[in-house]
Amino acid sequence: MKSILNNNPELKHQIDQVAEVAGYLWQKGWAERNGGNIVVNITDQINYLYGCHSVTALQARLPQCDSPTPPIEIGTTLPHLKGCYFFCKGTNRRMRDLARWPMDNGSIIRITDDCAHYEIIADKPVKPTSELPSHLMVHNDLMAKGSPYKASLHTHPIELVAMTHHRPFLEKDVLTRLLWSMIPETRAFCPKGLGIVPYLLPSSVALAQATLDRLNEGYDVVMWEKHGVFAVDTDIMAAFDQVDVLNKAAQIYMSARSMGFNPEGMSDAQMQELAEVFGL
Ligand code: 13P
Ligand code: ZN
Repeated sequence: MKSILNNNPELKHQIDQVAEVAGYLWQKGWAERNGGNIVVNITDQINYLYGCHSVTALQARLPQCDSPTPPIEIGTTLPHLKGCYFFCKGTNRRMRDLARWPMDNGSIIRITDDCAHYEIIADKPVKPTSELPSHLMVHNDLMAKGSPYKASLHTHPIELVAMTHHRPFLEKDVLTRLLWSMIPETRAFCPKGLGIVPYLLPSSVALAQATLDRLNEGYDVVMWEKHGVFAVDTDIMAAFDQVDVLNKAAQIYMSARSMGFNPEGMSDAQMQELAEVFGL
């Protein structure tokens, strides 16, 4: 079968990881219908494999791939993404399908030299996720900072989303402290906590900008009120892990509440001890 992944083990590893995480999202019930999206910066894998930044040169070396689509407007200009390549879940595509057939339910795009458009270069002309503005604005910022983070994830974790329907939890760092105190791992593995973005229209540039603002305040995971979470990390598995750990804490909180009591939570001293031991 024709695919850019053929004989490209480094790239295939990245896409296999995307497919594995997409399966977890579906199994967890966080990915109803087309819910959620994944974008991974695969520029290193493409440039490593082909040693070129020019899409024409790349195409010449990839005779098995479809021709690139005409450039499509991003809606904003992202100067640090010039010539970068991303794997993106397709809009309206199901995570459970991405898990089984990643190259039929997602595509590889290249940001054009004007930094305002992208073209789909492989394998099929699958239109990227509607949340592309959020993902690409965040990746532009990560590239500008020389960050090692290469993956961004948006998903709809049930318990975390439920908690955003309670206004007191939307105050700065209230949810972070509550979730940290539920189980030591949350403090240890999500040391930056959870930023909050008040409700904004899905896929809007306003939502993208608010997400970027929270990440720039130092969070790796951002809650979109009454919608979902957005997380960044070195790879897609690590981004998933952060959301998984936070949602586990939310489940512990809700289990305690459903048993009829308010969970005591770890004390500030216990959490401080953890921070010292883990060097957080
Ligand atoms: P897409 O199908 O366009 O990726 O949208 C899913 C989603 O969760 C929007 O917020
Ligand atoms: Zn969503």
